[in-house]
Amino acid sequence: MEIKSAQFVISNTDVNKCSAPLMPEYAFIGRSNVGKSSLINMLCVRKDMAKTSGKPGKTQLINHFLINENWYLVDLPGYGYAQVSREKREKWEGFIRQYILNRPNLMCMMVLIDSRLAPQRVDLEFMEWLGENGIPFVMVFTKMDKLTKSKIAANIENYKKELLTTWEELPAMFYTSSEERMGREELLDFIDNSNTLFVKP
Ligand code: GTP
Ligand code: MG
Repeated sequence: MEIKSAQFVISNTDVNKCSAPLMPEYAFIGRSNVGKSSLINMLCVRKDMAKTSGKPGKTQLINHFLINENWYLVDLPGYGYAQVSREKREKWEGFIRQYILNRPNLMCMMVLIDSRLAPQRVDLEFMEWLGENGIPFVMVFTKMDKLTKSKIAANIENYKKELLTTWEELPAMFYTSSEERMGREELLDFIDNSNTLFVKP
């Protein structure tokens, strides 16, 4: 799929104030600093459309971007960031969960996983929660440029093993680097296909 246009639409914390759910959308989630905003920019070939930072906790709202005038990408705050106060964390988690559970045009959650790390409890629990609530998701490994191929392959194998202790089937997996524009075609093809399945309310 070619990206012909990409524009910021709205930021808020309330699912009811998001754009009318008339087009398919895909939301990016994962631990703070995993590379959600960077991946959105990479997919759209925009340098600074979604705000990124070396410090965790940059994205704090539900951010909608309209792509090609007919689907949305959504940048969400990260979870599992210990430096944020408990109160703030609970507030974020509350509105993120409300958004995920109450957005009828949400085709799929993109769960971003840092390819450099061993399976993280917070990620496994989050995917478990998506499963319990019947929310479709795929896994997107990020920062593939940061480690040797063999180390990353070992991390991904560990993830698959860990998932298969609770899941019967593995979700679709994508392998990306925003630095090297890796995985872009694969993700856009996936979205292109999913868009054809959208039924207007
Ligand atoms: P929050 O909004 O704080 O939850 O973070 P985020 O998940 O949106 O992460 P963000 O995109 O802001 O990136 C965090 C840091 O990781 C930045 O310094 C990025 O430059 C860096 N980064 C993101 N993706 C990649 C990647 O593929 N490769 C490398 N080497 N660095 C990356
Ligand atoms: Mg961000």
